[in-house]
Amino acid sequence: MKPDILLAVPLIDNAMAALDDAFIVHRLWQAPDGGAFLAAIAGRVRGAATTGATGLKGDLIERLPRLEVVASYGVGTDAIDLATCRRRGIGVSNTPDVLTAEVADFAMTLLLASARRVPQADAYVRRGDYERDGKDQYPLTRRVRGKKVGIVGLGQIGQAFAGLCLAFGMDVAWYGPRPKPGVPYRHVDDLVQLAGQVDYLVLTCKGGAETAGLVDAAVLEALGAKGTLVNVARGSVVDEAALVAALQDGTLGAAALDVYADEPNVPAALIAMDNVVLQPHVASGTVETRGAMGQLVVDNLKSWFGHGRLLTPVA
Ligand code: 8YV
Repeated sequence: MKPDILLAVPLIDNAMAALDDAFIVHRLWQAPDGGAFLAAIAGRVRGAATTGATGLKGDLIERLPRLEVVASYGVGTDAIDLATCRRRGIGVSNTPDVLTAEVADFAMTLLLASARRVPQADAYVRRGDYERDGKDQYPLTRRVRGKKVGIVGLGQIGQAFAGLCLAFGMDVAWYGPRPKPGVPYRHVDDLVQLAGQVDYLVLTCKGGAETAGLVDAAVLEALGAKGTLVNVARGSVVDEAALVAALQDGTLGAAALDVYADEPNVPAALIAMDNVVLQPHVASGTVETRGAMGQLVVDNLKSWFGHGRLLTPVA
């Protein structure tokens, strides 16, 4: 008998096909009435798969009395009600390692895109302004090589990103609540101080209560009119209203964002600004990496139901 699992949102096709092979899959997003759908399958569902961006809320978990395991397609677990899972003894897995390099690469992509104004210059050519203005008229941009970067959160992704910064000859410092022994980068234990020292402040920390609102008006002011904020972490890490205000009045120079406070909603004020590069939460979004993440979701669920253990459990 195949176990029944709930799939909260779609995953990459290969993962959904593999889930269909091994499990009876109930696709929540396809149900016109989610509540009735859950009520009808509640007595059978033993596993759930979701994503880092969507997670699994406590009230949904509570509607599934037989739930044993949640496998998430993503490394961040801030959108999963871990307290409820812990209380109910539900196992939770995520997908670390397989996305580390991809997300770090994308952080550097955003940093470069923002500094060199790649999307803005692309729009300039497409609008016909290059042809209209003639050669060498596009405004000059900012250098990345050799500049100072501050990394907020030096976990796996932060460390992979730091390695890329070294290749660009950048001076790397980082902020985190605790120093890390053996890390070859300068630790600054005050975020306002770090922001005041760097050209680029890059967020690679975890989301959730621990980091909520960490980047506030004071941090943005310290980063300054020539500074750039890059966020591939979570929107919750930044006070978004303060960010909008700082960008609008020139307190902060620029921002490149992959994540937002209330996804998929992006404040209209950010959309209207020219000094902002915006992406739809896609740092891990390549066929290769999402394929590996999907495989790990499938393997975790198979391992749980086959051997009673997860391959990459969330501590
Ligand atoms: C994905 C993520 O965008 O790993 C995470 O925590 O947020 C991303 O990798 C996500 O899991 C897909 O929604």
